[in-house]
Amino acid sequence: MQNKNKKRANRKIIIGFEHSESLAREIAKKAKLPYKRIMVTKFPDGESLLKVPEEVKDKKVYIVSSLHHPNEKLIETLLAAETCKDIKAKKIILISPYLCYMRQDKRFNPGEVVSAPIIAKHINASFDGIITVDPHLHRIKKLSRIYKNAITLSSVMPIAEYVKKHYKKPLIIGPDGESYQWVLKIAKKIKCPVTVLEKTRYSSREVRVNIKDKKLNYKDKHVVIIDDIISTGHTMMEVIKFFKKNNVKNISCVGVHAMFAEKAYEKMKKLGAKNIITSNYIPHKSNRIFLGNLIAKKI
Ligand code: R5P
Repeated sequence: MQNKNKKRANRKIIIGFEHSESLAREIAKKAKLPYKRIMVTKFPDGESLLKVPEEVKDKKVYIVSSLHHPNEKLIETLLAAETCKDIKAKKIILISPYLCYMRQDKRFNPGEVVSAPIIAKHINASFDGIITVDPHLHRIKKLSRIYKNAITLSSVMPIAEYVKKHYKKPLIIGPDGESYQWVLKIAKKIKCPVTVLEKTRYSSREVRVNIKDKKLNYKDKHVVIIDDIISTGHTMMEVIKFFKKNNVKNISCVGVHAMFAEKAYEKMKKLGAKNIITSNYIPHKSNRIFLGNLIAKKI
């Protein structure tokens, strides 16, 4: 067994940036592979200078880079991949549990950029494949439509297990049509009631939600709102407000990707969210569901 692991470690390596280090280490530990950090320093004008570990030569290299607040990280991730290629890595795979720019998948207003395929084009050019978790697939139905060799993982089952273990009498709420795909599976696994709300988005910071199921029974339930991304938190906040108004005492929120822009976490807490739980794909104090294993199994 030890020999087998040694051989694997001679063929594969995980490297990553400081911003994704704890997740990269967790993945490396579970996959029984070595981990090395990509060193980044800055020139006085803000440009990045990278140093990739030389051990990547002749190996299949996995670069861990969760692309939240992505602009700087994207440039550095592409620079790292090209450098690995340069110093003769065999294959280069991006592990980006949170995949950026997927929400702008359509030209909503004249002249607007359609970001998702453009970013995919650049990542495809530098990497041989990508592993990601719960990417935001709305109008683009499958990641393979824009990414080559894409492995798409789902955190649905670990979330279901977490909710089952920690909340009594849960009522699962999906805040919008897109959440239908995962909340239904979660509720089925837990064997608890579920409903999906109607969401209208007016801008990045303004959404309204509407409950379709007028007969929904939330008396004595622990309302658990589950979404893929918590960004400004407005989606979650609108749902929290609705259930607060209807005298629900226990309201908790679960998000896969803990973006929490503009103090979203604090605002949600202030509105009355009892627990706010996220996966560790983006480091945040709310991380409770540790999912390195999900990725390690695919390496
Ligand atoms: C969009 O449809 C996503 O599934 C999330 O609901 C959305 O990204 C959350 O954004 P925010 O927290 O800014 O409302």
